[in-house]
Amino acid sequence: MDQKTFYITTPIYYPSGKAHIGHSYCTVATDAIARYKRMQGYDVMFLTGTDEHGQKIELNAAKAGVTPKEYVDEIVAGFQELWKLLNISNDRFIRTTDDYHVKAVQKIFKELYDRGEIYKGKYEGWYCTPCESFWTETQLKDGKCPDCGREVKWAEEEAYFFKLGNYADRLLKLYEDQPDFIQPESRKNEMIQFIKNGLDDLCVSRTSFTWGIPVDFDPKHVVYVWLDALTNYITAMGYGSGDDSDYRKYWPADVHFIGKEIVRFHTIIWPAILMALDLPLPKQVYGHGWLLFGDGSKMSKSKGNVVDPVILCDRYGVDAIRYFLLREIPFGADGLFTNEALINRINYDLANDLGNLLSRTTAMVQKYFGGSIPAQRQAEDLDQDLVAMATSLRGRYEESMDGFQFSNALAEVWKLIARSNKYIDETMPWALGKAPDKAPRLAAVLYNLCECLRIVSILITPFMPETAPKIQAQIGAGADVCNWDSADQWGLLPADAVVSKGETLFPRIDVAKEIAELDEILIQKPAEKKAEAPKREQPVEGVAMIGIDDFAKVELRVAEIIACEPVKRAKKLLKLTLNDGQGQRVVASGIAKYYTPDQLVGRHVVLVANLKPAVLCGVESCGMILAADCAGGDVKVIFVDEIPAGSKIR
Ligand code: ME8
Ligand code: MG
Repeated sequence: MDQKTFYITTPIYYPSGKAHIGHSYCTVATDAIARYKRMQGYDVMFLTGTDEHGQKIELNAAKAGVTPKEYVDEIVAGFQELWKLLNISNDRFIRTTDDYHVKAVQKIFKELYDRGEIYKGKYEGWYCTPCESFWTETQLKDGKCPDCGREVKWAEEEAYFFKLGNYADRLLKLYEDQPDFIQPESRKNEMIQFIKNGLDDLCVSRTSFTWGIPVDFDPKHVVYVWLDALTNYITAMGYGSGDDSDYRKYWPADVHFIGKEIVRFHTIIWPAILMALDLPLPKQVYGHGWLLFGDGSKMSKSKGNVVDPVILCDRYGVDAIRYFLLREIPFGADGLFTNEALINRINYDLANDLGNLLSRTTAMVQKYFGGSIPAQRQAEDLDQDLVAMATSLRGRYEESMDGFQFSNALAEVWKLIARSNKYIDETMPWALGKAPDKAPRLAAVLYNLCECLRIVSILITPFMPETAPKIQAQIGAGADVCNWDSADQWGLLPADAVVSKGETLFPRIDVAKEIAELDEILIQKPAEKKAEAPKREQPVEGVAMIGIDDFAKVELRVAEIIACEPVKRAKKLLKLTLNDGQGQRVVASGIAKYYTPDQLVGRHVVLVANLKPAVLCGVESCGMILAADCAGGDVKVIFVDEIPAGSKIR
């Protein structure tokens, strides 16, 4: 009989900067499921990779003084090294610059064009070259650019569009017919709302930059990112480039794991593209939550926490990091990442609960029986509860894992660990060890503990692939009793197993000392050093002082960006739809050079809520969002993701 297949993917990450702990989070989760499914006997295909085209990468490369390809090559190598360090067991790694992908995307683009699903359209209007902005007749001031006052010229920019607008009904029907298609459930309602607000056709080519896959029948266009990126899930299986046997074997994917900010692309655009190609749809898209950091930001610049995955693995071990990521935060929800929480998990769950159970058990087998548990064992009623809990654990674990509830699956395993530790207190082996006639009872107690450890070791394998075999070696359990089938069986550890106390799995960490050392590391990183505030008796140079009443006139509120799209006529602007806690409003913001829509949707920002509405390039803008002008001409939006939308700022 053919083995059942299971195809799982991570997003393909932008190599616009180094791989970070947020990328690691999704990749470790995907790895845990891939390992779990392999243990269950599936023929697993686990795909990850990098999304290497686009203007941002072109710009970063230019800044670094290298070609885009040189730029991504170096960063992608870093991603691959990190996955190796984290024991990621991906079967394949796709780069969107790979030849086969490029060819397949060109072919898909052409196919959609031939089917009439992609058409050539255009932006048009009065164009100001220095401002790179399109204006309507009425927006011009005395026939000139309303921004800079310079001459404008009539211009058209052609672009290809995908007829996404035609798919609204089919997408809504998909969500109805396949209720599990979007998970978690809450994300589905957001998508339904989004579609009901009206779906525009999607721009799928650009002529304003060149770092992309050329449209082969119209090479001044490059394929715009999402059509290039999303199709990786099929091109990596050989679709569109020759040998497509893996495509036929593994597609449709069982699940795409992605972060919540790109659910829209995966549950609206991706299925629509597949529908347009008459291809099967993925079975499920799971949008996990975000790791948030001490300062409320989604990524990097975290104050007070070391988040570099390489440093963390180096200090605590890969398995501790993998465990923490999947235990601390329920998959699907956002959660705060702190070094303190990490250290606590290591101390309590790993060093105390699991580490102690193993070291106490193996030490006692050595001390009382010289490393080999006698076959003559005397059971007691008390054992039944432990045995029942151990042999039924796999079922409860599978229930959680099948719903991608990693944290619950681990919690179930840790219940058995806690129960086993309690069993030691109840049976008091040290007392049994003093009475020679109690040897059979003592043998039973220690054997039962080893059996619990054996079952635990099997079930933690997807999470802690280095630790599991270490436990198995210490209790003398061979591979034949450590496979999936043996995880719900009792009494498999052979009588001649050699038990030996080995290295301490997870040394306890001195919290205060460790936090101090981590702070040292942070201080060594100048970019993350906290600047000492200079005392200001003088106003900021060149700026008049104001009274508190002046400030009070400005109504600042936290708002969530619920949608974001480029403004056709103005390259600088993004049109943001905000939830300000009381309702929705639209704000146009001049940040298109610095952010792509997917970097903004879902984020919380500071809104000037009582700014008089103004029309910017045809968009009625009601308010503005705060951003900082940073060194080097960079602009950074002020994000406040931890603060609920609608909160007043004063
Ligand atoms: O969006 N917490 O790439 P990307 C949790 N190339 N997960 C995080 C995270 C955080 N703070 N930061 C990042 C792209 N992630 C596109 C995808 S797919 C066809 C194209 C994870 O480099 C999370 O899984 O911005 C998120 O969706 C992904 O990294 C985004 O990576
Ligand atoms: Mg992103």
